[in-house]
Amino acid sequence: MGNRIPEDLLEKIQRTSDIVDVVSEYVQLKKQGRNYFGLCPFHGEKSPSFSVSSDKQIFHCFGCGAGGNVFSFIMQHNGVSFTEAVQTLAEKNGIDLPTISPTDQGKTLSKDAEKMIEAHELLKKFYHHLLVNTKEGQSALDYLINRGFTRETIDKFEIGYALDSWDFITKFLSKRGFNLSLMEEAGLLVKKNNSDDFLDRFRNRIMFPISDHNGSTIAFSGRVLSEEKPKYLNSPETKIFNKSKILYNFHRARIHIRKNQQAVLYEGFADVISSTESGVEHAIATMGTSLTEDQARIIRRNVNEVVLCYDSDSAGVEATIRAAKVLQSAGCQIKVAMIQEGLDPDDYIKKYGSEKFRNDVIGATVPFMTFKMSYYRRGKNLQNEGERLQYIENVLADLTHLQSAVEREIYLKQLSKEFDLSIDVLKEQLQHFQSRQSNVSQQPQAKNAVSNHMKRNPIAKKKLLPAYHTAERMLIGHMLRSKDFSQKVLERLGLQFNIEEHKAIVTYLYGFYEEGNEENVSSFLSRLPNSELQDIVSNIAMITLNTEVTEQELSDYIKQVLNHQKMLMIKEKEADKKEAERNKQFREAAQIAMEIIQLQQALKS
Ligand code: GTP
Ligand code: MN
Repeated sequence: MGNRIPEDLLEKIQRTSDIVDVVSEYVQLKKQGRNYFGLCPFHGEKSPSFSVSSDKQIFHCFGCGAGGNVFSFIMQHNGVSFTEAVQTLAEKNGIDLPTISPTDQGKTLSKDAEKMIEAHELLKKFYHHLLVNTKEGQSALDYLINRGFTRETIDKFEIGYALDSWDFITKFLSKRGFNLSLMEEAGLLVKKNNSDDFLDRFRNRIMFPISDHNGSTIAFSGRVLSEEKPKYLNSPETKIFNKSKILYNFHRARIHIRKNQQAVLYEGFADVISSTESGVEHAIATMGTSLTEDQARIIRRNVNEVVLCYDSDSAGVEATIRAAKVLQSAGCQIKVAMIQEGLDPDDYIKKYGSEKFRNDVIGATVPFMTFKMSYYRRGKNLQNEGERLQYIENVLADLTHLQSAVEREIYLKQLSKEFDLSIDVLKEQLQHFQSRQSNVSQQPQAKNAVSNHMKRNPIAKKKLLPAYHTAERMLIGHMLRSKDFSQKVLERLGLQFNIEEHKAIVTYLYGFYEEGNEENVSSFLSRLPNSELQDIVSNIAMITLNTEVTEQELSDYIKQVLNHQKMLMIKEKEADKKEAERNKQFREAAQIAMEIIQLQQALKS
């Protein structure tokens, strides 16, 4: 397996690093029953909801949902990669490790993907070396220092420089035995026109390494030193780099996001870096593209509140509104940090300093609704009656989307005061909008209700979970404890879990047992590809379960899981039936009604 850390060595490190001892170095723990409790280091809290199980060798926070084994604890706490966490613990226990490449993320990567990451890690260090230690890198270093980045920041973000050469990196990689076609596929090289020769993709650029959420380097973004175009050149989409699923700086910011119970989302890398320098470390950014649903989901799994801190130009304002919508449908609360016209966050920090940025920008956010009101106002002359009405209608239409009646009231009062309108008239108008909207959107809303349901998040755990969800958790809980039980579930349910994350977890679990491993949550956690899945498994593993599961219990759980799929179909059919009735297609409606009855009967049996 190449130079991956051998399994037995991993086991040994895990066995010698007792999780209670390791966590105790950072968190004061108190024994309570079978487990230890303390204040969670991953989010700000006053009463202890962070628990560590000595039996299972895992930790889990009932407050913020963080969880994992001893490796994940070090990874998350120190913001390091899996390999670095293993190294830290090995050193502590005086265990010698063979030289390992940073690709050893404990997950199964294809050989090609491993090689690609290895090359990225190597080049990241090399580019950084070129920037900070060589004559060739001096002008790039000067550029960064002139822009106000400190040496410390340049080291922390491992910023580098790609030489002004056509084939320096090609030769570098070739000498080290990398397959050049694979390096082209990795986006590091490009093919020379009509020949089999390769050239460096990045030339004479400042190099920003991009990491996946575990800290492995998977891409680069290179900035020109001049005003040339394109300003930034990114790695293309590759086997290891999927732009739409990666957030810049996420692996470092995660612990700060948890602590602050908030994430700050920027448009550019430079903004993230300056923000971190200014002490606002819960900073992330997209890759110069609009925020995707995947990215919003990743954010939501870690935190509820997102501050959008985009450029103040009109493109930035439009992007803010787009991103807010995506985040809202993922279930996030949005605040907007406004920067004065003409500056981006990085410019602002450089011009006014860290303290003013922290206080007057990040510390002075407004709710998304307030932001939109000022957006609707832009370019309108509110003295003009038509434009004023237009403005009020825009605001009212948005107010219908607000969940909280209290919030609606606040904005209505604001409008009423500002335009000297009676609050009753505004309310009447609002109701008018509400009924109009529910007419227009009944159909999609029915569908939405279903998909929103699926989007629930592990953090909002105080809510009662739907039965199928609990059933899936109980099944996984028992599967973690018993290989035999897992085998039964495999035979009867396979991968038919409703929750995407559960589906992924059982896939890994079947594989884990298939390989001949015995029941061991802590080792299993190392096999999971990301911290989101680890959080869920640790949470489930902490549930107190009966040791024996009766056949009756097992079939009940399985029925709950399968029934949910039928219920979803019934809901969809009911919406279809209503639609048919509205269109006076009574025969179709009757047909659908029959199908519904059949499904309902199947539910009971
Ligand atoms: P600086 O000019 O270095 O301060 O960068 P910036 O972060 O202010 O850049 P800007 O606001 O223009 O763009 C925001 C983000 O969009 C950048 O961080 C990049 O990710 C992306 N971006 C900007 N220009 C380009 C480009 O020419 N090509 C690509 N692919 N992405 C770009
Ligand atoms: Mn900028």
